[in-house]
Amino acid sequence: MPMESEQLEAVVMDIVAGIRDAIIKHHVTVDQYRFAVDYLGRLADARELPLLLDVFLNVAAVDAENEVTKGSPQAIQGPYYREDAPAVTDRLKTLDHDNERPLVVRGQVRDIDGSVLPGAEVDIWHSTPTGKYSGFHDNIPVDYYRGKLTSDSEGAYRVATTAPVPYQIPNQGYTGALLEAMGRHSWRPAHVHFKVRKPGFKTVTTQVYFEGGQWVDSDCCSGVRDDLVRRTTQEDGVDTLTVDFVLDRAA
Ligand SMILES: [Fe+2]
Repeated sequence: MPMESEQLEAVVMDIVAGIRDAIIKHHVTVDQYRFAVDYLGRLADARELPLLLDVFLNVAAVDAENEVTKGSPQAIQGPYYREDAPAVTDRLKTLDHDNERPLVVRGQVRDIDGSVLPGAEVDIWHSTPTGKYSGFHDNIPVDYYRGKLTSDSEGAYRVATTAPVPYQIPNQGYTGALLEAMGRHSWRPAHVHFKVRKPGFKTVTTQVYFEGGQWVDSDCCSGVRDDLVRRTTQEDGVDTLTVDFVLDRAA
């Protein structure tokens, strides 16, 4: 929903003040300013404005919400969510790859008072073992590497799948060129996405990262928070990622 004019004016003028301060602090020349204006125009023409803004700013909007929620920490949803993921019970469909590593994802859903929440929808999605997303890349059908579980009478869920891997965000365009010109990279650490919902509760959209994983300390989208990093355990010889959720009541 749009902002009230008072909040809008305050936000816009703070943004403007921050940019003006950066221009002055770094002695940006008028020619460099003109180059930046032209760059942003070309980036917008290429429909890359959402990508650029999400790389740098989406996490801040999420963290602003994290400041006021009593539930599990939220994270950026990213561009690869599919509402039409299939219902699943105990296994995500995966493709045969030589380098796939089994992974079990399990956990429990509770409310902020600690009561277990049966019947919560735990929607999970993650990359293939080659860093792609079904429904978006390589014509992989949408029912692979994603699915909607339902928490059981103890609020628990458990699903077998394969481990996701780090991947690069689209880096062939203007956003990638900017990151490269800045000497930065376009990699995201391996992660599992979640969207957990139940009527009457605030939906938790989040991502969980693997302790010690590559790029965890330098995610190009700055999406990693300490409370979103988990160490896997071994259960029956399989890497197991345990992710519990706490749902706050809906306003
Ligand atoms: Fe992702």
